[in-house]
Amino acid sequence: MVVGLGTGRTAGHAIRKLASMASSGLRLICIPTSDATAALAGKLGLTVSTMDEYPDISVTIDGADEVDPSLNLIKGRGGALLREKIVASASAKEVIVIDEGKLVRFLGAKESLPVEMLRFGYRSTMIHLIELGCEPVLRELDGKPFITDSANCIADCRFAKIDNPADLSAKINSIPGVVENGLFPGMASVVYVGSANGVRIMRK
Ligand code: A5P
Repeated sequence: MVVGLGTGRTAGHAIRKLASMASSGLRLICIPTSDATAALAGKLGLTVSTMDEYPDISVTIDGADEVDPSLNLIKGRGGALLREKIVASASAKEVIVIDEGKLVRFLGAKESLPVEMLRFGYRSTMIHLIELGCEPVLRELDGKPFITDSANCIADCRFAKIDNPADLSAKINSIPGVVENGLFPGMASVVYVGSANGVRIMRK
């Protein structure tokens, strides 16, 4: 089975579980969504490959920052949204694992929307993002622009309320200089919600 490996703390739990299943005989080829996940998977002894070798993925397990009642997602607080979205769109099944604090009535309720941008002309790109009704902030790490695994930068965009995630995603991606945004409209197949009372499963 070809399995996409998400990025972040929650995905890390799934990756460790997969590693223990692989050591018990489950045969897996893993496609990581970030350099950090590739390093973790390699350290745990999982077989890691690339989308060049395996462009069709059976199932991907990933986390999310916000999930609305229609299973639309905001992702990218960990900075891996571009590869996460490419892997998700190549996956027959996208499994999302969250804790109940990530459930929201509408996207944008708690989190900013990460938008990955080319470094060239990023200030102009951010002006176009403002025109869509948000307040973008260039993400920084140690006082310098945060740089993604694909050598881009990120604007964290505060929207008051995202009513139509698919429409907003298309508008953001039509801005020259935008590489991808963290909205995943209709891409999750199933969401596992962990809480102190157990696990709830939300399906489309
Ligand atoms: C990584 O870029 C993100 O999309 C993560 O999947 C998301 O931020 C959830 O991360 P945690 O499980 O660490 O909260």
